[in-house]
Amino acid sequence: MNSVHYQQQDDADLRESAADNVSEVVDRVMRGRAAVRRFLDRPVDRGIVADILDVARSAPSNSNTQPWRVHALAGEAKDALCAALGDAHANRPEAYTPCYKHFPDVLGARYAARQAEFGAIYYGCLGIDFADTVRRNMQTAQNFRFFGAPVGLIFTIDSSLERGSWIDYGMFLQNIMLAAKARGLDTCPQISFVKYHEIIRQHLSISPDETIVCGMSMGYADTSARVNALGLSREPVTAFTSFLGFDN
Ligand SMILES: Cc1cc2nc3c(=O)[nH]c(=O)nc-3n(C[C@H](O)[C@H](O)[C@H](O)COP(=O)(O)O)c2cc1C
Repeated sequence: MNSVHYQQQDDADLRESAADNVSEVVDRVMRGRAAVRRFLDRPVDRGIVADILDVARSAPSNSNTQPWRVHALAGEAKDALCAALGDAHANRPEAYTPCYKHFPDVLGARYAARQAEFGAIYYGCLGIDFADTVRRNMQTAQNFRFFGAPVGLIFTIDSSLERGSWIDYGMFLQNIMLAAKARGLDTCPQISFVKYHEIIRQHLSISPDETIVCGMSMGYADTSARVNALGLSREPVTAFTSFLGFDN
């Protein structure tokens, strides 16, 4: 692993890779990634996490500004944070407010419909009635133990940066998830953590200049868990693309 300079693959390498059906492999990794919410009790070496971050840092960012900062947690460090978050979520959830909103207060109809469909599939698969707020809340609490994953990641960004840098950040996060998948590991990106940003900040000594972007669970998936096979669908390309100026 080159820990100092990211070495770009040159065109000749890429052409050679293409000849080896690299697109099939990349497509399989992309389509194979899905949010995993139950993990095996199997540790992940620090070296593997470092490798994943090493390849993920090849993500593009405007003017190569690289706005990411990662806190990688395992063992006691992860458990201590999980304990504090679990306590707050169980006993004082009303005392905390997210440091930013992911969705507007009123979600547009088409997005609300997709969100409702997701909720029905997710909670349905867990045997949780959507009206059962107690059990739904217990499932939400699983976020704060990183769904039992051996590795928990917390991502922060310099608060002075604008929305554009959050685009860069999304690419970095996706790179992590794909690099993990390519190594037999699975992930779940999690915004849930931003509600308890004050606790996270205190535990990880995060500078006041940084904003918590999200967290991520990482580990080996429990492939026997139905919750790990939700099979969520996506809209077809024609539903979100206007093709202009093509010959056919
Ligand atoms: C930015 C972001 C935040 C998310 N936050 C959570 C979360 O807090 N908890 C959770 O269980 N899933 C979370 N997810 C996972 C989404 O629910 C999931 O990606 C979506 O339903 C599509 O499913 P798939 O990833 O399995 O394809 C998040 C995903 C993204 C991209």
